[in-house]
Amino acid sequence: MLATAYSSSVIGIDAYTVEVEVDISRGLPSFSTVGLAEGAVRESKERVKAALKNSGYDFPGDRITVNLAPADVKKEGSAFDLPIAVGILTATGLIPPLALKDYLIMGELSLDGSVRPIRGALSMAIMAKEFNLKGIYVPSANAAEAAVVDEIAVYPTNTLSQLVESLNGMESITPFTVDRDPLENPLSSDLDFADVCGQENVKRAVEIAAAGGHNLLMIGPPGAGKTMLAQRLSTILPSLAFNEALETSKVYSVMGLMPRGQGLLTRRPFRAPHHTISDAGLIGGGVIPKPGEVSLAHNGLLFLDEMPEFKKNVLEVLRQPMETGIVTISRASSTVTYPANFVLVGAMNPCPCGFFGDTKRECTCSYREIRRYRAKISGPLMDRIDIHIDVPSVPFKDLTGISQGESSSSIYQRVLAAKKIQEKRFHKTKIHSNAMMNSRQIKKFCPIDENSTALLETAMEKFGLSARALSRILKISRTIADLAGAQDIEQAHVAEAIQYRSLDRKLMV
Ligand SMILES: Nc1ncnc2c1ncn2[C@@H]1O[C@H](COP(=O)(O)OP(=O)(O)OP(=O)(O)O)[C@@H](O)[C@H]1O
Ligand SMILES: [Mg+2]
Repeated sequence: MLATAYSSSVIGIDAYTVEVEVDISRGLPSFSTVGLAEGAVRESKERVKAALKNSGYDFPGDRITVNLAPADVKKEGSAFDLPIAVGILTATGLIPPLALKDYLIMGELSLDGSVRPIRGALSMAIMAKEFNLKGIYVPSANAAEAAVVDEIAVYPTNTLSQLVESLNGMESITPFTVDRDPLENPLSSDLDFADVCGQENVKRAVEIAAAGGHNLLMIGPPGAGKTMLAQRLSTILPSLAFNEALETSKVYSVMGLMPRGQGLLTRRPFRAPHHTISDAGLIGGGVIPKPGEVSLAHNGLLFLDEMPEFKKNVLEVLRQPMETGIVTISRASSTVTYPANFVLVGAMNPCPCGFFGDTKRECTCSYREIRRYRAKISGPLMDRIDIHIDVPSVPFKDLTGISQGESSSSIYQRVLAAKKIQEKRFHKTKIHSNAMMNSRQIKKFCPIDENSTALLETAMEKFGLSARALSRILKISRTIADLAGAQDIEQAHVAEAIQYRSLDRKLMV
């Protein structure tokens, strides 16, 4: 007898339907799976067999063939255990075939018949809604993430027998609901900008980066507070809009990284990979492609501490996602795309010993060493970083002074106001921050008056700024004006923006 259960798998971060066809026919006892089953899927028959037996069902002693359609797409993961088991029970007459037609079923089985979590439940729920299905059966541990999608019933499943009873109408599982409302306020954190003494200039640059989504590079001697500042950046980033939260959560769901019981990620991600990371780890990859750190930082922050310590080829692969906001990974069999729209924050010392340009300690590096060190960050990569800021060591009086720095919450209010202005400005376009403007948009949204033009001209000549630097300066000026609540970019805004291109003025390569 033949039975079909409906399940789902993901390519990239989007789900597609997989029909699980089970045929049981007379013949020598056998159990084969066809339809490009990889790794964990191929092993699923052992789990299914044990789970059926341990749940009290007879395992048919006939010839069982399982086909996963479409047959030409590689299937990976353990989510097909449950639909295969249900297919077998339907083919043997224990479940009415019509009961399967309107539902997606996903879940990994453990040998005792209980259901374990899977990856990608959120994307699968989104797809089920698009197909107007009645509901989906998912492992209980994944119910919260799937239930974020409205208008689709999500049935949390604990065991195989519970699912079988539900499909037979004997036991009703209550659909899972989550509170979709409150996205967490980013301020509920232990870290606060008030902890950072002095460094007012740097804090200002960090605020501008957060408000306009500008990439930022901090350069300074050891112990100046670069890492400290970067760690506090997430406390002033504007909270996630629902759609952004959904996109980012999809990536985490596909990686199986959603915290249990949590529907959506509520904060902008902050990823700080170690400098020993491989290019596949950073950008995504592997035989069966998986998203990398840049995608886990989607709609959030990617912090690269000690940037020149990263391998050069690893840094170079950042260029594509920084330009396009996506990562494309090609394999012989398929091409997958992951979202990767992040703000890059880098930190580095000015030279290998760390004290080049320091007022108190002498630098012991040779000119060649400094050049080699800085050349690790290539020109094209530097070009994509809008703001460069020197982080000098903190004077003793700043560290011991009683006056506290401005708190994250008051900086956050300004960032939020600037973000609202940008949302209004870009609501008819595909971009959502000043940093993402292309040259046409810069022309449209960043007009400057004669005085500012004259100032820019002088700066370009005096500091030898490139045409690229010019457009960066205009974008930063726009964000500074937004933070000030000003409609037009004024001369003071441009003057401040010029300061954030310090490296254009210095020897960099
Ligand atoms: N501005 C500051 N206010 C208060 N404490 C600070 C400040 N700067 C540095 N510190 C103290 O010094 C410690 C080291 O700072 P941090 O790790 O941020 O330095 P860094 O610039 O990242 O140095 P490195 O180049 O060695 O990585 C912090 O944990 C903090 O205790
Ligand atoms: Mg550091």
